[in-house]
Amino acid sequence: MKKIALIIFSFISLISFGQEYAPKKNLPIIPLPREIKVADGLFVLTSQTKIVVMADGFQPEIDYLNHYFKTNYDFELATTKILPTDGNYIIFTRPDFEAGWKENYDLTINENHIYFLAEGNAGLFYAMQTLIQILPLEKTAEVKVPCVQIKDSPRYEWRGMHLDCSRHFFTKDEVKKYIDYLAMYKFNVFHWHLVDDQGWRIEIRKYPLLTTVGGKRKETLIGKTINKDGTVSVGDKFDGKEYGGFYTQEDVKEIVAYAQSKYITILPEIEMPGHSIAALAAYPQFSCAGGPFETLTRWGVSDDSYCGGNDETFVFLENILDEVMALFPSKYIHIGGDECEKGRWKTCVKCQKRIADEKLKDVEQLQSYFITRIEKHVNSKGKQIIGWDEILEGGLAPNAALMSWRGIKGGIAAAKQKHYVVMSPGKPCYFDHYQSKDKAKEPLAIGGFNPLDSVYLYNPTPKILTEEEAKFIMGAQANLWTEYIVDFKQVEYMAMPRMAALSEALWTPLDKKNLKDFVVRLKLHAPILDKMGVNYAKHFKSMK
Ligand code: ACM
Ligand code: ZN
Repeated sequence: MKKIALIIFSFISLISFGQEYAPKKNLPIIPLPREIKVADGLFVLTSQTKIVVMADGFQPEIDYLNHYFKTNYDFELATTKILPTDGNYIIFTRPDFEAGWKENYDLTINENHIYFLAEGNAGLFYAMQTLIQILPLEKTAEVKVPCVQIKDSPRYEWRGMHLDCSRHFFTKDEVKKYIDYLAMYKFNVFHWHLVDDQGWRIEIRKYPLLTTVGGKRKETLIGKTINKDGTVSVGDKFDGKEYGGFYTQEDVKEIVAYAQSKYITILPEIEMPGHSIAALAAYPQFSCAGGPFETLTRWGVSDDSYCGGNDETFVFLENILDEVMALFPSKYIHIGGDECEKGRWKTCVKCQKRIADEKLKDVEQLQSYFITRIEKHVNSKGKQIIGWDEILEGGLAPNAALMSWRGIKGGIAAAKQKHYVVMSPGKPCYFDHYQSKDKAKEPLAIGGFNPLDSVYLYNPTPKILTEEEAKFIMGAQANLWTEYIVDFKQVEYMAMPRMAALSEALWTPLDKKNLKDFVVRLKLHAPILDKMGVNYAKHFKSMK
């Protein structure tokens, strides 16, 4: 096989030789590849084109491509292991040396061949995404593909998108659609925010009340308005309608497998010690004061949280995490850690006893104790925790990774302490913020302003870090909180095309990024989104 691959490689180099490739970038590919050269010719794919398989293990991607051809052009291609003597063909192969390519790929298209070179399936899958973006959108018997030479690899290992399914619930099919969008833009982490004060959305078999009680709220606060000056006033009316929904463990398994088939790891988030009212509505005994509680019907931060002095609380959370860890293959488990009001801990006898027994200084250190104790349990199962940047306060748990959301300070501090970091600062990574200054014309949002250009220009690695410290920045992600995002159409509107802009900030080498070029490409790319029926925001159409 090695010899054959070498012959093919030389052969392709030869046949590519006749073609003049130039570094033009006017194809609708997002994110922009590391290296791209375009030539004038076309490869004409028909039902007679063969797929030549020169490497084992690529069948899932070959099936994926054939499924795409079947759906869009109504034909599938035959596969062979032998090089045809006539006709054009698509070759799948790997380098015959160990290149250490996890997500890299080369894609060469000339008038006679489409040549995929990848070492790992993820790289090949990304090559497919690139190819699909330059295929014709209309159904045709002659699928004309531009000749192009691409060498591609990502800038960051963590390219994430988050979705809050607690404040509003999105169906299994909607979550899969979101995963499809991530895959199209070569994201590899889906951060699934599954629990919060306003709803617990994952079935935990040991604690059924989490979903039967915590999965519902009796009504939802509405009536927030945008004032003439653009400021936003919180409403004071409730809609009077019960709201609920959750994912069964079977749903979760199906979604995890779906994401895996697209090389996306799902990072589940189970919030603690704060943002826990839905859980405490079901099991109030794990709070400090004992409740009773109702799943919250308004947004914001609650005064109550899990009790850090009660050992039973830890048993409860560890049992929950055991079920979660069994469902999600992710190395990381997100344990929240943000916005925990600690007032109750100051007066709780159990919390105060814990502070005394453990010789802690204050409630900040009790939060640190809480997270470190949970971390020990998660580590004992071979997994790592990641938490919002508040987990720095009172001391970072020994092996924790950090998600920096209140700006980048937390991320910098953690990287300096040699902890891994995912950047997700409110500016520009909160996609629940407005994307236009003309707020009155936009769907109601939480506030803020994160336009497309600021997302595009984002550089996740702070300049202040040394080269060594910068290695701890795994990448970045955008967060989509859904207090004011009531349905999936609005999810699409808030996420797209800012997700496309972020993909380039995470994938494309810094020195290849160019905002003007991106806007040109996005305009060429928009028909793909139209064909998919995505409800994307159109502000870029007037950008120069
Ligand atoms: C957060 O936005 N509370 C992480
Ligand atoms: Zn307590």
